[in-house]
Amino acid sequence: MDLKLQNSRAFVAGSFEGIGRAIVERFAAEGAHVALLDRNPAVAEVAFSIAERFHVVARDFTADVCDFAAVRRAWDEWHAGSDAPHHVVFAVGVGSGKAGFPFWKLSPADWPRVLEVNLIGAVNVAHAVAPSLAAARRGTLLFLSSVAGQIGSQTDPPYSAAKAGLINFSQCAAKDLAPFGVRVNTICPGMVATSLGREVWRASQADLPDHERQSFEDWGKSKLARLVPMNRWQDPAEIAAMAAFLASDEARNITGQTINVDGGYVMHW
Ligand SMILES: NC(=O)c1ccc[n+]([C@@H]2O[C@H](COP(=O)([O-])OP(=O)(O)OC[C@H]3O[C@@H](n4cnc5c(N)ncnc54)[C@H](O)[C@@H]3O)[C@@H](O)[C@H]2O)c1
Repeated sequence: MDLKLQNSRAFVAGSFEGIGRAIVERFAAEGAHVALLDRNPAVAEVAFSIAERFHVVARDFTADVCDFAAVRRAWDEWHAGSDAPHHVVFAVGVGSGKAGFPFWKLSPADWPRVLEVNLIGAVNVAHAVAPSLAAARRGTLLFLSSVAGQIGSQTDPPYSAAKAGLINFSQCAAKDLAPFGVRVNTICPGMVATSLGREVWRASQADLPDHERQSFEDWGKSKLARLVPMNRWQDPAEIAAMAAFLASDEARNITGQTINVDGGYVMHW
């Protein structure tokens, strides 16, 4: 399917690695020019290689999404003088780095940074870009949340709560931006074997006696069999395919939706 994203512009926060990286590559493969924002300065090398591989403009911005002024500077620079359709993606995500079951094993002090990055980081990006998208009367905004934001996931309560808040904010933003022809959606991945996925595994093993510890592969296998009907990992490219579809005009009547790409982990009616 030709998604007709050629010469549009994608701004992806959290694109050094993982799902955000797959999304930026997918947009570039569709012929979109791309901006990569990440706290990791090595994002510059990723942008360079994307420009070479896909023959598109690829700009890099090193910034922490918690720094609103830095995010806004990056967006203003990227957006200035361009009247192409803009697609903005928030693909940043961090956990507490600890096993959160029962929740009182964590300390209240484990919460603020997780909420700050996952929720306020997304709010910062939305505030930076919404006025320009509204003024242009087109474009899309996409947030990466999680199945954990839709269920009382015990894995990492501050992460789950932040992701639930993000789904709710995404719906507010979708309603506010709809009159301007700007669509806002949320994708919830299930289990993806990225750095973040490995961090969850590491945290889950930390307090276990030696004989109960599992390799990442065995831990993943048993969790998938228990929780994911399709019984397979989700691939970052599968999330990226949904991101590209949602940005395209094929999805012109889809806004305010929470879309699970999760092998059936969470089902709604
Ligand atoms: N991996 C999974 O199983 C899974 C499941 C559900 C939801 N998600 C969500 O998908 C999104 C992508 O996750 P991922 O698995 O690719 O994670 P990842 O750790 O592989 O990549 C996250 C990226 O965000 C960047 N980043 C982290 N904190 C940042 C900050 N403060 N400012 C700027 N950049 C920052 C990292 O450098 C990295 O490039 C996240 O929103 C995550 O919560 C992931």
